[in-house]
Amino acid sequence: MKLTIIGSGYVGLTTGACFAEVGHEVMCVDNDASKIETLRRGEIPIYEPGLADLVTQNVAADRLSFTTSTAEGVAHGDVVFIAVPTPPNPDGSVDLRFIEKVAREIAPHIDSYKVIVDKSTVPVKTGEKVAETIQRYAPDAKFDVVSNPEFLREGSAVHDLMKPDRIVFGSNSDRASALMKKVYEPFVAPLLVTDINSAELIKHAANSFLALKISYINAISEICEASGADIERVAEGIGMDSRIGQAFLNAGLGYGGSCFPKDIAAFIAISEQLGTPFTLLKEVQKINAHQLDRFIDRIRKSLWVLEEKKIAVWGLTFKPHTDDLRSSVAMELVEKLVVEGAVVTAYDPKGMDRAAALPIGSRIRFANSPEEAAVGADALVIATEWPEFEHVNFPRIRESMLSPILFDGRNLLDPTTMRKFGFDYHCIGRPKMD
Ligand code: UGA
Repeated sequence: MKLTIIGSGYVGLTTGACFAEVGHEVMCVDNDASKIETLRRGEIPIYEPGLADLVTQNVAADRLSFTTSTAEGVAHGDVVFIAVPTPPNPDGSVDLRFIEKVAREIAPHIDSYKVIVDKSTVPVKTGEKVAETIQRYAPDAKFDVVSNPEFLREGSAVHDLMKPDRIVFGSNSDRASALMKKVYEPFVAPLLVTDINSAELIKHAANSFLALKISYINAISEICEASGADIERVAEGIGMDSRIGQAFLNAGLGYGGSCFPKDIAAFIAISEQLGTPFTLLKEVQKINAHQLDRFIDRIRKSLWVLEEKKIAVWGLTFKPHTDDLRSSVAMELVEKLVVEGAVVTAYDPKGMDRAAALPIGSRIRFANSPEEAAVGADALVIATEWPEFEHVNFPRIRESMLSPILFDGRNLLDPTTMRKFGFDYHCIGRPKMD
């Protein structure tokens, strides 16, 4: 099929590449000319495992192309996906101006029947607005609007798209549904077809539920610390119930990233606008913030004064296998330490260039390896659970530090082993060893 993706960011580019991989002819559109040039040269502006190869192969096979022209894009695709950013407003609601702009821009170019698919994460009832807008600017256009929420995770986006748990789309038209089924025919996954509003709600409800699960286990981790229980065993015991499951029960510094914080705030905002405030989610947000606060308190308690303390921080990205720093709890932690006068030396396998470019970047020292970051440090903090941090030579690291205090914000390491190596080891919700 001929498909168009408007917006070649994280979701748009990965979706486009995967659609091409299964045999569709895909045109990706973006108004950022330099990004399109970069993509045409075969360079990928983000780090996502497997994506670069997929893009290169499909460009070479003539199944994937890039343009800055919306007119060209709309002419190409029978199905046009909108995958533009939906950033938050200061009050947590969603700024839908890019969605509205795309709806307005594509309208005059619709000269045959098109399915316009919203893939961006949007509040419920946005599809209705998109349809209204296109209708207003092109009263004779023949089209249907569909909502097709995306469930990919950064770091495993290609896998999640190629082998999804489920495919959901919301459509109020049989003609559009038939075309959407054809789009997804090559993907072997359960398909759920709903009305548009339900599909939009599924996305916010799914992300909120996952964030709720994380805050739930984080709240229990605090009770574990107060009672001497072990969060790892508790999570295991809860997760063995197949109705609950083990996934997303890893206690730590809390959730971050470009999705959960934004989507939860957006869901709260839309629920309030609808007159049905979803207050449970405010507690989820509170627990998430509290988890970092009490971790920093623990660092303060150990080091007494943070000013002038040399603190090594391993991990800056919001989770491993990405270079994304957006709403990263690790970056929030670094910023708080720096503001209190600590001298932070950070190491991250993929996130350092982006971190250096941020305003706080000039106040962080960057190391070339985890070992280098730890040299002379008063304390070491693990803020993101990159697997490579498990495989360093800890006895040597201990020797190189000024004082061997280790704060493991992601429960990456084994407490018994770390104690054996001579570390004063702190973690989340696991019993003290001394
Ligand atoms: C999330 C969802 O998992 C995807 O299904 C969804 O499509 C995506 O948002 C989106 O809306 O686009 P993502 O933000 O890439 O994906 O990352 P996750 O793997 O969900 O992790 C989010 C945050 O939760 C990370 O900061 C991670 O460290 C944290 N987390 C995750 C925990 O603290 N504990 C856990 O057990 C799991």
